[in-house]
Amino acid sequence: MEQKNKYRAIKAALLISCVGFAPMALAGASAQMLAGSCVGCHGPDGNSVGPASPSISAMAKDNFVDIMKSYKTEGGRFSTIMGRISKGYDDKEIDLLADYFGAKKSMATKQKVDKKMAKKGAKIHKKSCKKCHADPKEDDIMLNGQPKAYLMNAMDDFSGLDVSKIASKDVKKMVKKLKKLKTADRKALANYYASQK
Ligand code: HEC
Ligand code: HEC
Repeated sequence: MEQKNKYRAIKAALLISCVGFAPMALAGASAQMLAGSCVGCHGPDGNSVGPASPSISAMAKDNFVDIMKSYKTEGGRFSTIMGRISKGYDDKEIDLLADYFGAKKSMATKQKVDKKMAKKGAKIHKKSCKKCHADPKEDDIMLNGQPKAYLMNAMDDFSGLDVSKIASKDVKKMVKKLKKLKTADRKALANYYASQK
């Protein structure tokens, strides 16, 4: 994805600009308060304990901000829940939330994985998904270590979308690929991503 390098560059710039400062000392408390509304679903420190919400820890700031703003936008990033939740937060609050969760260590959700299915999933991933989800921990779309139920829900939801109504070219491509997969294939993929750290 072309945006990836941009994200990395900005991420690096942000890290460098933070050295020598004590950022968010004042805002810390209110960031934590804001985050209190998120951790019920996203888990302590943004690391999901499942079943149906993704982990949101350790995301690059601009990526987190982009996603939250896109949820707010009509025709933006697809969501079942976040479209409504994101509208409750202004730019400044989204900024604080991005800093708060961005500073948390990312941990894979603890869950049982079917090794045979994960192996099958690895093959499907390589063929159909890797091009865009190459290194999900680094990428803007995190799949590795996410709860299986969340991954299944997301794949089901996306594959049910009407391709002609999707604005993003990449999402269009993905939905076409997902529509072709059987439920067993999606289960295999979910086990594969869940097995990754
Ligand atoms: C009721 C449960 C719930 C609450 C509360 C909630 N979320 Fe979410 N969040 C989800 C689900 C489910 C998704 C997957 C997208 C969807 O279907 O809405 C998600 C997705 C996200 C994502 C994108 C993750 C990714 O990798 O795609 C971010 C960022 C996020 N939420 C941030 C927040 C923040 C910040 C808050 C608190 C202000 C919050 N969420 C509160 C359930 C929740
Ligand atoms: C052409 C690029 C592309 C391909 C190929 C692709 N994806 Fe995606 N995927 C995306 C984009 C972009 C998003 C973010 C969706 C949005 O913005 O609404 C996404 C989101 C997702 C999500 C939801 C994660 C979240 O945080 O909301 C899952 C799960 C997913 N993809 C799985 C897959 C699987 C499984 C495959 C292979 C069958 C696949 N993708 C192939 C580009 C792609």
